[in-house]
Amino acid sequence: MRFAIREFLAIGQEIRLVFNGNHYLPGLPELNGTVAWQKSAVGPAGTNSIDTGIFFSLLDPVTKNRIHEWLLKDGIVQREFAETDQFKDLGSAYDSSTATFQVLRAFGWGPLINLGYFRFPTPVSALNLLYNLVLLKTAYMLPSAQVRLVRKAFKLLEIQAGDDVLDIGCGRGLSSFLIASSHPTSSVIGIDLLPEHVNVATTLYGNIHNLKFEHGDALSLRFQNGSFGKVLCLEAAFHFADREKFLKEAFRILEQGGRLVVVDFAWKTDKDRQILKDEFTRFVQNEWKWSDFFSLGQYIKTAKSAGFKVEGFYKWSRRVTGPIQFIFDTFAKAGQWRWSRAALCRFNPLLHSLTDNHWATLHYSAKAHNHIRRHVEYIALVLKKPGEN
Ligand SMILES: C[S@@+](CC[C@H](N)C(=O)[O-])C[C@H]1O[C@@H](n2cnc3c(N)ncnc32)[C@H](O)[C@@H]1O
Repeated sequence: MRFAIREFLAIGQEIRLVFNGNHYLPGLPELNGTVAWQKSAVGPAGTNSIDTGIFFSLLDPVTKNRIHEWLLKDGIVQREFAETDQFKDLGSAYDSSTATFQVLRAFGWGPLINLGYFRFPTPVSALNLLYNLVLLKTAYMLPSAQVRLVRKAFKLLEIQAGDDVLDIGCGRGLSSFLIASSHPTSSVIGIDLLPEHVNVATTLYGNIHNLKFEHGDALSLRFQNGSFGKVLCLEAAFHFADREKFLKEAFRILEQGGRLVVVDFAWKTDKDRQILKDEFTRFVQNEWKWSDFFSLGQYIKTAKSAGFKVEGFYKWSRRVTGPIQFIFDTFAKAGQWRWSRAALCRFNPLLHSLTDNHWATLHYSAKAHNHIRRHVEYIALVLKKPGEN
C-alpha cells in the first residue's frame, strides 16, 4: 500500500495519517507527525519527485518496529533520525537544497558564507534595511556586513608582519584572501572540510602569491607543532563534533605566544541547552548541520584546560544574529502575501527560484531560528598560547 500525499505540505506542518482498514498495522488507526524536511528531485525525462520526511512523535519501540516492517514491504526507505546524521551531509548546509540557503544566495551569499556584522545593532536593526534602501544598496547589505565581520575577527588576531596564518573553515576563500591581501608579508593557508569549497576558493583566489587553499579537517590538522603565529576560525566551529579536540589541535599547531580567534555560537547558559530536543531546534540543526554548542563558560574552561590563556571574549549577537534575524523575519512575513512576494521577486529576480513550498518553509524557518537565537550568544573568543613570539 503506497500512500500518495496530494495536498501541499509545508515544513513544520502537523499531519495525521489515518489508516482506512486494509492496512498492515491493525490496532493503529492513525499516526501523528510533523513534516521535518522535503527535498525535490528531477528524475529521468524531467519527472519530479518529492521526498518527504516526517517526525512521528512518541512512538514506542514495538510500534516503530511494526511501521518499519510495513514500510519495508512497500519498498519505502525508512531512516532513523540519529544525532550523528547531522554531520553526514555537511554539503547540504551550503548547496541550494534548503529554502534558507536559496534566500541567502539571492541576497549575496557567495565567496563569504557567514551571517555578517551589521552597521546598526538591535533594537534599531530596522535601520540596516532603511539605510540600504535609501542608498539603493540593499543588494550589497549582506556582503558588506560579511566583510565587516571578517575584518572585526581578524583585527582581534593582531597579525604582525611575517606571521603565518591559518584560516580554519575558510569556506569559499574570501576571508583568507582579505587577510592575505592586507598582510602581503604573511603567508596564509585556508582549509575547509568541503572539497567543493576549496575548489571555489582556489578558482577565485588561487593566484595570490602568499595564499593557498587545501582540504583539511579542523579536528585532525596535518601541520606540525608550532607552525602558525595566528589561527582564525570564523563561524565554522558550530559544525564541529568535538570542540575540545579542535581547541587542542589549534593549541598544538600554534607557536608560543600565538593567537587563536574563534567566532562561534554559544549557549547563553548551560540551562539553555535544554531546547536541544525541541522541534524548532531540530529543524535548524538539520538545516545547518550542527549538534550542540558550548556555553561561554564551557568554552573558557575547555580553552584553559587545553593550555590557552583567555585574552578576551566579545558578545556580538546585537550586531550579527539580532539584525539578520530581523531581516529574515521581515522577509519571511513579506513572503506570506502574493503581492508582496511578487514585489520581492521583481526587486530581486533570483528569488524566482523559490516555490510556494519554499515560501511556506521560510516562514517556519524564521520562527525556528528566532527560537534558538533567544538562547544563543554569538561570540568571539581571543585565546593566546602562553610564551614569547
Ligand atoms: C559558515 S561557513 C564559514 C566560512 C568562512 N569562514 C566565511 O566566513 O565565509 C563554515 C565553514 O566551515 C567548514 N567546516 C565545517 N566543518 C569543518 C571541519 N571539521 N574542518 C574544516 N572546515 C569545516 C564548512 O565546510 C564551511 O565552509
